[in-house]
Amino acid sequence: MKFKKKILCIGAGYVGGPSMAMIAYKCPDYKITVVDINQERIDAWNSSQLPVYEPGLDKIIKMCRGKNLFFSKDIKNQIKENDIIFVSVNTPTKTYGAGADMAADLQYVEKTARQILKYSQSSKIVIEKSTLPVKTALAMEKILSSAKGKIKFEILSNPEFLAEGTAVSDLENPDRVLIGSRETKSGLKARARLIEIYSRWVPLNKIMTSNIWSCELSKLVANAFLAQRVSSINSISALCEKTDADINEVANAVGMDSRIGNKFLNAGIGFGGSCFKKDILNLVYLCNYYNLREVASYWESVVKINQYQQERFIANILHTMFGTLAGKKICILGFAFKANTSDTRESPAIYISQKLLAEHAEINISDPRALNNAEIDLSGVKGKISYIEDPYKAAAGCHALVILTDWDLYRKLDFRKIYISMVKPAFLFDGRNVIDRKKCHSIGFNIYVIGKRALTHF
Ligand SMILES: NC(=O)c1ccc[n+]([C@@H]2O[C@H](COP(=O)([O-])OP(=O)(O)OC[C@H]3O[C@@H](n4cnc5c(N)ncnc54)[C@H](O)[C@@H]3O)[C@@H](O)[C@H]2O)c1
Repeated sequence: MKFKKKILCIGAGYVGGPSMAMIAYKCPDYKITVVDINQERIDAWNSSQLPVYEPGLDKIIKMCRGKNLFFSKDIKNQIKENDIIFVSVNTPTKTYGAGADMAADLQYVEKTARQILKYSQSSKIVIEKSTLPVKTALAMEKILSSAKGKIKFEILSNPEFLAEGTAVSDLENPDRVLIGSRETKSGLKARARLIEIYSRWVPLNKIMTSNIWSCELSKLVANAFLAQRVSSINSISALCEKTDADINEVANAVGMDSRIGNKFLNAGIGFGGSCFKKDILNLVYLCNYYNLREVASYWESVVKINQYQQERFIANILHTMFGTLAGKKICILGFAFKANTSDTRESPAIYISQKLLAEHAEINISDPRALNNAEIDLSGVKGKISYIEDPYKAAAGCHALVILTDWDLYRKLDFRKIYISMVKPAFLFDGRNVIDRKKCHSIGFNIYVIGKRALTHF
């Protein structure tokens, strides 16, 4: 079949895989290829066991793979063959040298730009899909403009706003698609070519365009605002616990104000995932770089509250269980950083598990999708850990249940059955506000929910 357009994506991760699958699904006359340096990842995308769990993704992949969606390791030839290239490689927090623990590590982006430069034999549009510090496009431009002869590269910014767990519906019905370009004739022409792709399924009034720097910065700011809401409500949950106010009632009352809105106001043990912390730290780094100290410290406090919330949760478990966890068995329900994903990057469950093990507790970890990643995250950590998918088996014989992910299945558990199988007094620490606390209390549990008065039998 002769395809109308050929598109390449470099980086087959949580963003590259699903976002390209959506383009392939919506544009059957386009050929989409996704490449990666990680062979295992590409093999997994080509298998029945996809490397990423997202509701609805396997169906789309099955429909498109081998028809107009291809996963390949041949980066060199794919760069040669395609003239629209998305860059969706990882941009983790730098762990070394200047800006360590703050700045974004741009080595993968730069290597990708150099690969594109090396293998290109024709002009191309290069689209930043990774989340990048403002002004990264300038570095990309500088590298790519060293191309010899008539080859020209136009850089666009098109940050991805999908949320893990709802990636497919976010991609299918995005709140907005943001496209930034240089406001030159060639920049605007490249912008129009990208609009043409998205307009196949996204209404034009949701496709926003801007200058490239606003576009790069908007993504960082959007994540910072989302994380700030989480930290804001979490900070108030601490006050609720001291004053007998109920965080859900407060959140409902506050969220009814149409200027504030009711989304993203669930108190819990804090945000995880690969993006929020790294993007805020990156924002903090940028503010410091431009000598905006007050702005930097404002945003830094969002990360501090997130850490505080987890420490507070652990301290409460330790204090409640009579000051010692040594030899006690604790069942962790949920290891993914949020429901409906297998992703555990920066999951609060990692830190909380480590702390429980440091107190010499034994832990049984249960999660419907994330146990493989949990084992990787905790490999090398000292202590007794069991990984048990069935929550009932994981809870049997434990002194406490600790809910760390808001999987829907935890709302529907038979807590009476679980209670019977546990050591008494049985404790239940709900870090995600998912249980019916009065019902669980009446079963016999001592209940501790973030932002609510404890319900105990003591
Ligand atoms: N995960 C999310 O929810 C999300 C949402 C929006 C934006 N983002 C941003 O998107 C970017 C990618 O995130 P992700 O979660 O998909 O990361 P990821 O780690 O899952 O995937 C990145 C992939 O890029 C590959 N890669 C790195 N260097 C490469 C190179 N030179 N050539 C080919 N492949 C290379 C890696 O092997 C990896 O498979 C990040 O900047 C992130 O901040 C992520």
